[in-house]
Amino acid sequence: MYFLGIDTSTTSSKALLIDESGAVVAVASSPHTLQTPRPLWSEQNPLEWWGAVSASIQSVLEKAGVGGEAVSAIGLTGQMHGLVLLDETGNVLRPAILWNDQRTQSQCDEIHARIGKEKFIQITGNVALTGFTAPKILWVAQHEPEVYAQAKHVLLPKDYIRYKLTGEYAMDKADGAGTVLFDLRVRDWSDEVLAALDIPREWMPPTFEGCQFTGRVSLEAAALTGLKAGTPVAAGGGDQAAQAVGVGAVEPGIVGLTVGTSGVIFATTPSALIEPEGRLHAFCHAVPGMWHFMGVMLSAAGSLQWYRDTLAPGFSFDELLKEAETVPAGSEGLQFLPYLSGERTPYPDPLARGAFIGLTLRHGRGHMTRAVLEGVAFGLKDSFTLIQQAGLGTITQVRASGGGTKGALWRQILASVLEAELVTVNTAEGAAFGAALLAGVGFGAWADVPTACRAAVKITGSTQPEASQIQAYRQAYALYGELYPALKASFGKMGALD
Ligand code: XUL
Repeated sequence: MYFLGIDTSTTSSKALLIDESGAVVAVASSPHTLQTPRPLWSEQNPLEWWGAVSASIQSVLEKAGVGGEAVSAIGLTGQMHGLVLLDETGNVLRPAILWNDQRTQSQCDEIHARIGKEKFIQITGNVALTGFTAPKILWVAQHEPEVYAQAKHVLLPKDYIRYKLTGEYAMDKADGAGTVLFDLRVRDWSDEVLAALDIPREWMPPTFEGCQFTGRVSLEAAALTGLKAGTPVAAGGGDQAAQAVGVGAVEPGIVGLTVGTSGVIFATTPSALIEPEGRLHAFCHAVPGMWHFMGVMLSAAGSLQWYRDTLAPGFSFDELLKEAETVPAGSEGLQFLPYLSGERTPYPDPLARGAFIGLTLRHGRGHMTRAVLEGVAFGLKDSFTLIQQAGLGTITQVRASGGGTKGALWRQILASVLEAELVTVNTAEGAAFGAALLAGVGFGAWADVPTACRAAVKITGSTQPEASQIQAYRQAYALYGELYPALKASFGKMGALD
C-alpha cells in the first residue's frame, strides 16, 4: 500500500511515494520556469506545472517499479497564495500571479480602506499583504478587466493540479485561509469579505479538511500519468502546513523552523488565535480542526544563495561556511539585512531592501558570510519572539528543516540566536512527505495526523545554544532591530529610482 504526495513548488513539481510505515520509497521531480516580466512581478504558467506533475508521477512510479494500482491515495501540496484564474470551461485565463509577486501594495491598502484594517484582521486573522491572493484578484479586476470579465473560478496552484487530476474544483482549508478571503474561525469563505471586495462567491471552490478526499483521478489524467483511474485525492494543504505535518509540527508546543529559500517559524494553535496587529500570519492547519501561526521571512537560504552567486561565485557553500566559522559571533560588528525580496514578518514591506551595514577594512569574506547567516537568524528571531509572546504556552521543541539547516554552523548560530535547542528529524522531503501522510490518514492507514507523525517522524539530532555566544548575539540582535526602522524611508526612495 503506497501513498503519493505531490508538491507543486515555485522551482519544481515533486512526486513522492511512501509505504504504509511512512518510509519514503521513491522521489522524482521536474523543474518549472519563473517569469518576471516587470520589476516586482512573479508569474508561472499553470500548464507548465501540470506537465511537470505528470512527468514526475510517471517517473516516481517507474523508479519504485510499480504501476498506478499500487497507489492507494494521493495528497496535494504546493506554493501558497498564487492566483490561478480559470474561465467557465476551466481554461487558464492568464499566468498565475505567485506568492512572491509584490505588485499589489495599492490593492492591499484598498482592502484595508474598504473593510477597515482591524475588522479585516478580526475576520481573516491577517493583514492584507502583497503576497496573499485577495489583492491579486483586485489587481486583475483593475488592470485586466477583459480577463476579469471571463473569470469563473479562483484556484491556488495545488488546486489547479487537483482540477487536472480529478476534474473537480476544490481547495483545502489551510491554503484557503492563505487567500485572506476566509473567515478564520469558521474555516470557510467569508461572505462579508467577498462582498466588500466584489468577488463573486460562486468563483470560490468548496473547501475541505486536509485528510478529506475531494475527488478521484479521472480517466484522462490516468492515461497521462500512469495512475489508476478512481484513485482518491485528499485535500492536502499549502506547502507550509504540509511541511509542518512532514516534520511533525502538528501539536501546540512543537514549533517548526524552516530555512529554505524563504524562512518560516510555524506554531500549531488549538483555536483561531490572532496576533492583534496581524504581524504573524494566522491560517487553518492541514490538521483537521487546528490552526497555526506563522512568521515568514522572504529571503532566508535565498540570501545565502544570492550572496554566493553574486559575491563569491566559484566558491562552494562548504568553503564559505568554513571561512565563516573562524569569525567570532557577531561578525565583529558587521550586519546583514536579509530583505532582498522585501519582507513579510515582522515588517510587511515590499520595498524593504537587503544591506551589509558596518563594513570596515578589517572585514573579509568570512565576516560577510557569517553576517549573512546571522542576519537571517536575527530575522527569524523576530518571528520566533512574536510566537513566544502570542500566548501559546511553552515551546517544548523546535524542529529544524530545509536546506539551510543541513550545515552545523548555521544550526549552531540559529540555536544560539534563538536561545533554544533545535532538533532535526529523519524526514527531509518536507511538504510532499506531509501531503503523502495526509493522504494516508484519509485512507485510514493511521487514525489521525499526530498518530501518523509519531509513526513516521523521528528525532535524529540536537543542537544546543552555545553559552559563550549568547551575550554577543543579544547585543548584535538589539542593533539589528534598530536598522530597518532607521532605513525604511530610504528604502522607499530607492524603490522610486528603480
Ligand atoms: C507562505 C509562502 C511561501 C510559499 C512558498 O506564506 O508564501 O512559503 O508558500 O512556496
